[in-house]
Order: sequence, then C-alpha cells, then structure tokens
Amino acid sequence: MIWCRSILPVVRQIKSRWISTGSRLTSGFSLSTDIPEIENFKGVNSYKDLHKFSITNPDEFWGTLGRSRIDWMKPFDKVSECDMHKGSFKWFLGGQLNVSVNCVDRHAAKTPDKVALIWEKDEPNETEKVTYKELLDLVCQVANCLRDNGVKKGDRVAIYMPVSPMAVAAMLGCARIGAIHSVVYAGFKPDSLAERIEDAGVETVLTTDQCVRGGEVIELKKNVDEAVAKSSTVKRVLVSKRTGAEVGKTPLDIDFDEAVAKASKWCEPEVMNSEDMLFMLYTSGSTGKPKGIVHSQAGYLLYTNLTQKFVFDYQEGDIFGCVADIGWITGHSYVVYGPLSNGATTVLFESKPRYPDPGRYWDMVERLKINQFYCAPTGIRSLLRSDNSFVQKYDLSSLRVLASVGEPIDHEAWEWYHTVVGGGKCDVVDSWWQTETGGIAIAPRPSGAGDKIVPAIAMRPFFGIQPAILGRDGKEDTSLGANGACCIKYPWPSIARTIYGDHERFLETYFNKYPGYYFSGDGVRLNQEGYYQLTGRMDDVMSISGIRQGSAEVEDVIDEHPDVSESAVVGIPHEIKGEEPFAYVITKQGVTGDIEQLKTDLQHKVRERIAGFAVPRQMFFADEDILPKTRSGKIMRRILRKIAVDEFEELGDTSTLAEPAVVEKLIQGRILMK
Ligand code: WT7
Repeated sequence: MIWCRSILPVVRQIKSRWISTGSRLTSGFSLSTDIPEIENFKGVNSYKDLHKFSITNPDEFWGTLGRSRIDWMKPFDKVSECDMHKGSFKWFLGGQLNVSVNCVDRHAAKTPDKVALIWEKDEPNETEKVTYKELLDLVCQVANCLRDNGVKKGDRVAIYMPVSPMAVAAMLGCARIGAIHSVVYAGFKPDSLAERIEDAGVETVLTTDQCVRGGEVIELKKNVDEAVAKSSTVKRVLVSKRTGAEVGKTPLDIDFDEAVAKASKWCEPEVMNSEDMLFMLYTSGSTGKPKGIVHSQAGYLLYTNLTQKFVFDYQEGDIFGCVADIGWITGHSYVVYGPLSNGATTVLFESKPRYPDPGRYWDMVERLKINQFYCAPTGIRSLLRSDNSFVQKYDLSSLRVLASVGEPIDHEAWEWYHTVVGGGKCDVVDSWWQTETGGIAIAPRPSGAGDKIVPAIAMRPFFGIQPAILGRDGKEDTSLGANGACCIKYPWPSIARTIYGDHERFLETYFNKYPGYYFSGDGVRLNQEGYYQLTGRMDDVMSISGIRQGSAEVEDVIDEHPDVSESAVVGIPHEIKGEEPFAYVITKQGVTGDIEQLKTDLQHKVRERIAGFAVPRQMFFADEDILPKTRSGKIMRRILRKIAVDEFEELGDTSTLAEPAVVEKLIQGRILMK
C-alpha cells in the first residue's frame, strides 16, 4: 500500500497563496418542504438527525423515499438484502419499473412543453432545445428502432457518440426496452473501444459520422469501423449524423436517423425488475484491463434523483448545467438520470471550456440562465489563469450553486470559483464520489441553511453514507485527525453491483481488503471539525484532468514495444491537469537505437491505443533494470514519484528494496535527463 500518495493534494494546498474564509450555505433550502417524507421519520428535526436516521434505519429511510420518488409498475416488497462480504446488493426487491418512464413519461404527462434538454453545441451560440414531449417521442422512436433491429432485453449496446439529444435518447431508449447501455467516451481510440465491445459481447454499436470538440473533428465512424474489424461480436452499427460528412459505409451500417424517423412515436416500456442491469460503464483500475462497472435500475435511479435534488438544491424551474461528457459517470448521473428523473431542464455541453475563448462556460451560463453549474477542478484551474474579464463581462446572477468533481479541488481554484465566478454569493460544493458509488457520496450539501461550508473539502456524507477511515492495522479509526483508507460502512442503493463478467475481481478490488467495508481506493482524513477531506488515490491510479487512468494500462501498451523490457508509470502533479503520467522505461539489452525516436513511438502508441490524456510527456530511459523493487518484486512507485519531481531528499524508507543501489542510479539518470 502506498501511503505517501495521500500527501500530494495537501501539499498543493499548503503552497496556495489564498487565504480561505469559508462561506455560509446561502440557499433557502428547507427540510420540511424539500423532504416532505420527513414526517414519517420520528425525532428528526435537522439534517444531522436525518443523516443519523438514514444510517440507523436504512430500510425505513430508503423505503419511504423509494415509494414516494419512483413510479412503480409493481411496488417492491422488501427494501434491501445486502452482504458486504459477498459483494451482494439488492434493493427494492420484488419491485418493477421502467427507468425511462421515470425520467421522461411522467414529466411529459404533466409538463409536455417544458424543456428537458438544452444542447449547447460545440459551435458557439448554437443551441437546440428538446421538450419533454419531444424527448418522449424520440426515446420511443429510438427504442422501437433498436427493437426492430433485433435488440432485446438484456443485450449490451455500445454508445460511442458525442453529448447530444440523440445520445441521451439512445441511453433512455436502451432503458426503455431493457437493453444495457455501455457508453464509451468518444475520445477513446479504436483499440479501447474494441476492448470494451469484446468484454461486454456487444452486438449493436450506436455512433455518429464524426464529432466536433473545440472545433476539432474526431472520426468516430472510422474509429468504429476499426474497432469492429477487431471484434467478433458486432452485428450492426447504427450511424447518426453530426457533421454530415461522407464517412463510407460497411455492410453492417444502418442509417440511424432514417430508421428513427420511420419508427413509431410510442413504445411500450419493458417491465424491469429493480435489480436488472441498467448500464455498465468502464473505468480504469490498477490492472491493465478496464472494469465494466455494473449499475442496476431502481437503487441507482433513486440515489441519483435524491442527490441531484439535495446536493445541488435543485428547485422546480431551475436550469441545471453539468458540463461532463456522457462518457463518464458524471454525465450518466448528473446530465441524464438524476436531473431527468426530477423533471429538470438539463444542459448537454458538447464543447470545451476554452473554446472559442476562456469565457465559454460563463457566456453559456448567461445565455441559458444556468442555476447550478457542475464541472471539474481541472477546468477551473485552466480558466483562472486567464484574465478575469472573461468571467466578469457576463451576467452570472442566475447562479446559485457551483460544484466540482473528479479530483480534490485546491484552495486557489475553490476561491476563484467562489469569488470570481460566484461573486461570493453561491454555495461552492466539492463533491466526492466514483463510478462505483453511482452518485455523490460526500459533499457539503445537504445541510442546514446557515451552516458553514469549509473551502475545498467534501465535508459531509450524503444520507445513507457512513464513511469509515481504516488504518494500516485494518481497524476503523474514528478519532479527529484520523488519516487512512476511505471506506464506506453500510450499503446504499446505488453501490455498483458487480464488475461485468468478473465478480471475483469486484470482491478483490472493493471488499476483501477491509472485510465488511466497501473500499474506495482513496485516502481520507477526518479534520479537527469532524469533516471529511479526501486526499487522493492510494492505488496505482492517476487522475489526469479529472479522468481516471490506471498506470498499468499505460504500462501494458509501452511494454508491448519490442525494444522495451519493462516500464513503470506514475502520476506526478501538474498545474492544470492535477496529475500527468511520467514513464520510466527499461529498454531490452542490446537496444542501441535512437531513444528520441523510441520516445516518440511510445507516445504515439499510447495515444493510439488509449487516448491523448494518457500520454506521458516525460519519459526516463535506462538500459538496465533499475526500477526500485521490493524483494517480492513489487515496484515501489512512491520512490519513482519522488524522483520524477526531483524530491531526492525525501525518498523515505528504502531499506526494503531488493537492490538499494538502484536509487542512486535513478537520481543520476533523472539529473541527466534535464
Ligand atoms: C475517483 C473516481 C465521480 C465522478 C468523476 C470521477 C477522484 C472524484 C473527487 C473529489 C477528491 C475525487 C477519486 C475517486 N475524485 N471526485 N471531489 N475529491 N477526489 O469518477 O472516474 O470513477 O473517478 O475520482 O480519486 O476515486 P471516476
């Protein structure tokens, strides 16, 4: 276990030149009006009481909210049946529902003309609106088109599309017929797509001709063709138009737009059991193979519904602006399922924060009158280096809640977000969660109005979440100042159900290390005020621009090169991206070629095989094995991280190394590199 990782963000904060003052929660949010169900809970008078109630009486708490917030086709007869030791989670047993009905039909019936989606296209000043009635028609048409093409309940469907109404309809169309979507981020290359298609046994791929981000064209259809050529399972590719470019046709291709236009605007929703799979989403782990994290229907729906409402103080009529891509869990939970299940107007952001200039977000906030804005700290850090006039020239008075996710937010970014963007008037909400948690697990909200928000920390667990800090001895530490592994003690409705096709790995990764607890892979500290502060990953996973990337996956690509014998990739701090990969590469004996060329080749390979964000800019080459290993052969990445950032004095204990002499060689090599 690598403990020193957790120091990184803290160090970044100490270096900060800002002095934080904190802020009080500003929104007029009240327990009894926002959670009318509270009258069922005896002795609950405050958020604190309600949190306590939710973890001490989980079935009563979740059962009550599940009944009132979800439209059921058949009511559930048991709230939960969970076993942390077996990694077995069942919620709302016996219940039947359809998630697309909860996200669309029930709002289309009440407020058909209310805008459900606002698509902020890549081209500035181009937006398209879709009402709930129109969304219902589109979802039904997509669902019918999928059915007509042979897609059945339980089939896995890959969605490789840009953020757009068609992509949202594709997700909900799958949900309507009980197909399981696997959205693959449109920035991934053909090999990554092929790997995900193969692992899930995907027969149907939904894509677009091309996509555009920041004015740059990405050849999605071409990538799909390459991926499909490598996979054995794909039977059909439905292609929708984004740019209208001529992209060639294969025998598997079907014109998605044409098929949808012809399809009927009513599709009978499939009756789904609470625990049927809703979707899978791949995330990078500490071994080379990405994990297909599985979420199911009712528990995920309820949890994203509640967190979108309470963490962001969503009120009827608000415009909800989460700028995440649908290729990540944030896009699933807070662009699509959470907001739509609440009948909100949700923004689909297709562009980039600095396109065409660093005012893009704020121009959009002014034009669309966004009330809640949710982005990643990396975006904020990249913008705060530009002139504040890019923010201040816009009217941002609609904003009430500013939130961030993806990595620890540093004080400088928090303060800038709070004062420059929010004018000191908005709640700034750092939210911690993961693909595996399904929804926000720790955030300053919900809390009583007037409570203080401590800058730059996630602070409080959401209802039903009880964080536990586990020490090296494997015991829970509840003392103030405790620092250790961030675990969660009791199951909650949207906890991941399994890793697709590999329950053993699910247990191994999350449940075996601290029996009886869910282990997140992050470190956490309980500060002196009793609030939680996340401190970064404890495993070999990097967070690059808020995107999670396992070191092992990058190493696998590098190691495949015929000249490479071994490699180790570590994350090092980067001013804007949070972290960036740094690679140590050991070449095979006798390799004498051009190292600069090898570096370029390896970078190219990583870009092609994974994605641009995973490419190590800096690479250290050696022709003898000088990776610092323990006697059992485990690479001590802690040492590699320090050497990569020139902290040669602070290497810690090196006595357990099999060959302590390699450290000096690494240091000399690093000095020569510069
Ligand atoms: C990992 C999960 C959840 C949506 C985006 C990423 C890191 C996320 C925070 C935060 C500190 C954070 C953790 C976590 N992370 N939010 N507010 N403070 N770290 O989802 O790709 O599943 O990544 O992102 O390390 O484990 P993901």
